Amino acid sequence: MTDKILVTCECAPNIALIKYWGKLNEELIIPLNGSISITLDRDVLSSKTSLILLKTNNRNIQITLNNKTQVFNEGDLSKNSNDIINKKRFFTMLNKVRQNCILSDPFEYEIKIKSSNNFPTACGLASSASGFAALAHCLSKAYGYKGDVSELARLGSGSACRSCFGGFVKWTTGENSFDSLASRLFPSNHWEEMNIIALILEDGKKSVSSTHGMKESVQTSDLLKERVKIVENERLLNMENFVREKNFDEFARLVVQDSNTFHAVCLDTYPPLFYMNDKSKEIVKFVHEYNNLDSSLKLAYSFDAGPNCFLFVLDQHLNELLFLLRNIYFRNFDLKDKVVSNNLSKKENF
Ligand code: PMV
Repeated sequence: MTDKILVTCECAPNIALIKYWGKLNEELIIPLNGSISITLDRDVLSSKTSLILLKTNNRNIQITLNNKTQVFNEGDLSKNSNDIINKKRFFTMLNKVRQNCILSDPFEYEIKIKSSNNFPTACGLASSASGFAALAHCLSKAYGYKGDVSELARLGSGSACRSCFGGFVKWTTGENSFDSLASRLFPSNHWEEMNIIALILEDGKKSVSSTHGMKESVQTSDLLKERVKIVENERLLNMENFVREKNFDEFARLVVQDSNTFHAVCLDTYPPLFYMNDKSKEIVKFVHEYNNLDSSLKLAYSFDAGPNCFLFVLDQHLNELLFLLRNIYFRNFDLKDKVVSNNLSKKENF
């Protein structure tokens, strides 16, 4: 019998290179198509979570997220506007762990969780992915979970399963909860010359959540069905090969294409979903103009379910790009924040 167990974990957000959009199973968060992502540098952007299990007489769950605390009872699934966590998803994760762990008395503990991000939570970066991945790691360690940690994270938020690992990560669709898992394709030092620049154009909460948007797309978009086929038949394998070969030209083309197909699906959804804004489109134009100066591609962009942009660039073009962004391009932009990520030594401020 253990009276107190304390664990701490840190995970970073990930950016999908081949995106996940649409669920095969809503409850279990099994995706219609596989996806590939790159996890950002934990030293630059991360969610740090601590979990304490205490042998006391109460069975409360206390969660603190960025200094905001909420306490609720075991099994309380009520929804409130001030909830700091989706309780249903939290209990799905917790029960999964408690049913398959090495602790002999897993239901006998009071749970205290404290999590904070070293970047603004509502700044348009995927804090739910890093947050749920860190929570999954904490639960797994504290209880001695015998299953796969990426399955746990996925039950919290789909794309969180990819944040369980660093480097390039693939999430395979699967048919059941236990085989829809993420795994590392290549470690983060595989392509050290790669830089990711996050351009934060808007830092508010997105107007349509990805959960809701996906549901609408699955119900109304024919293009979504075609995208799923292309991704499963070609794109996942191609992306894996381009990253393996460090073929930036092909990598960049595919990242851009997949981001554009995803946003085309959003437009094909009825009523249409607009995640990119006018500034996002300006950046798209800029990237294509910049790439047109040369015979091979130097820069790629990707947009998730929001207006913010992720740029991919190799070391050899980083300074030129930063110069252009800083001195010419962003004079006209009101950027909330700009983060260069993936390698702390390359962290830059505009
Ligand atoms: O895991 P969610 O529900 O936050 O959905 C993520 C969806 C995208 O960011 C648009 C794509 C992806 O694969 O991360």
